[in-house]
Amino acid sequence: MKGIHIAFEGIDGSGKSLMARMAHEHLGSCGLPSLLTFEPTKGPIGAIIRDSLDNVLLQPGTEALLFAADRIQHQAEVIDPAVERGEIVVSDRYLMSSLAYQQARGLSLESLRSVNRWAREPDLTFLMDVPAETGVSRLNGSDNFENIEFLSKVRDRYLELADSMENVVIIDATPSIDDVWDSVRSGIDDAVKMLKP
Ligand code: TYD
Repeated sequence: MKGIHIAFEGIDGSGKSLMARMAHEHLGSCGLPSLLTFEPTKGPIGAIIRDSLDNVLLQPGTEALLFAADRIQHQAEVIDPAVERGEIVVSDRYLMSSLAYQQARGLSLESLRSVNRWAREPDLTFLMDVPAETGVSRLNGSDNFENIEFLSKVRDRYLELADSMENVVIIDATPSIDDVWDSVRSGIDDAVKMLKP
């Protein structure tokens, strides 16, 4: 039996990492083999990205190429083999992150689709949707105008993409963790039914 690939997406502070972890734990407690992964990865290209995000102002094109390279390598080395083994791969960020964040940095969707042409679409994506103000206040407890402005653009791109992509479930991520988890869990339980021998 082949597995499936589920991605969690959203702006910084949307709670996608927490929900990805909870989904992974839930699947395990249901006796389903699950693998939790994240981007930027811990691999060599992910390390370059993390180091650069902290220390260098990368050009949008450089960023787009690095994120895509990290993803393609990760997909071949980790995601695809796990799906082939029948596992449910839960990714904390994947393709949609590049399409939303790098578009918000000014790149065209066409160019981003092109550099990501070797990355497959996940079987299901949960888009954890919150206003930028909420995301930023969850991150630092205070508002930061520049960050809010950028993350508003990212959120708009995410919502636009969700309209045009298949298998994207938008989750209102503003309520309590328990309420958000209820919505995610029912989506996960439906997705598991997609597993076919
Ligand atoms: P993030 O998930 O926030 O990592 P962490 O929780 O370890 O801090 O990702 C780091 C940043 O990278 C985040 O601001 C989003 C950005 N990013 C992109 O711009 N494009 C991408 O393709 C990916 C995967 C991430």
